[in-house]
Amino acid sequence: MTIAAIGYLRIAATDTDAWMAFGTGVLGLMDAAREDAAGARFLRMDNHPFRFMIEPASKDGLIAAGLECRGRSEWLAVCERLGSAGHTLQAGPADEAARRCVTEYVTVEDPCGNTLELYYGRRLDYAPLISPTGVKQFITGDEYTGDMGFGHAVLPTPDLEAAANFYTELLGLGVSDTLYPPLPEGAPETTILFLHADNPRQHSLALYNHPYTGGVVHIMVEVSSLDEVGRAMDRAKTGGHPILASLGRHVNDNMCSFYVVAPGGIAVEYGYDGLLVDWETYTPTVSTEGDYWGHEYNFPG
Ligand SMILES: [Fe+2]
Repeated sequence: MTIAAIGYLRIAATDTDAWMAFGTGVLGLMDAAREDAAGARFLRMDNHPFRFMIEPASKDGLIAAGLECRGRSEWLAVCERLGSAGHTLQAGPADEAARRCVTEYVTVEDPCGNTLELYYGRRLDYAPLISPTGVKQFITGDEYTGDMGFGHAVLPTPDLEAAANFYTELLGLGVSDTLYPPLPEGAPETTILFLHADNPRQHSLALYNHPYTGGVVHIMVEVSSLDEVGRAMDRAKTGGHPILASLGRHVNDNMCSFYVVAPGGIAVEYGYDGLLVDWETYTPTVSTEGDYWGHEYNFPG
């Protein structure tokens, strides 16, 4: 398996101040307080130098997802596979690698136009998380699980078959679950394919078979207790941020979570109790329900 974790996200924001206020004040992430010539802001959740890079832009949405390879040889192997399959790789210049705190990276688009940055050698600074809202820790891995990435992201992939082939055959991700969610009458057929990287998190990426505004269906961050989820829900409501889904528990990754809409429109799932899986003994599931309970959706507009 080539990809170790989903390490970081680059997010375009028409109002970076609003995103930072949301990231720190609602999600409880820490402002890395880093200078950047292009005006990007950086949010951290653990000993990584950042997990979200918030970049000033004229349009809101996801710019790219950073996928981590364990080392240079794994990284070269995946680049080789992608190149042989006809995908165009763009080498990241040294100054941009330094900005991402990685040793080297390449940019590639998946078959549906989602931008990925494949990298290795993240430079950690080991500064402890000091959450402005008192979040004790974000679940991103420990000495037993290794790095499990920031959480997960669901990408729009209208050509699901081509995307599934790209992520499994070329990047080496594994399928953990295929979900055919129950839908209201007349709604278009929906499939969500959940993929795991080389870490115990039940899914690091998921593929949704329709287009989606903003380039990402949702992103997820995980904390360590139900109380911290509840407190974040209170902060989201107090801040007037739209709640996209009420508290609930997903079937496949067991995540107990709610969904809030960030400034600019990206939905953020905030959860705890996510399933950790031993892939040696796991059989991928096929689900016909998204939730054990809850998660009543309320789409703005
Ligand atoms: Fe999720």
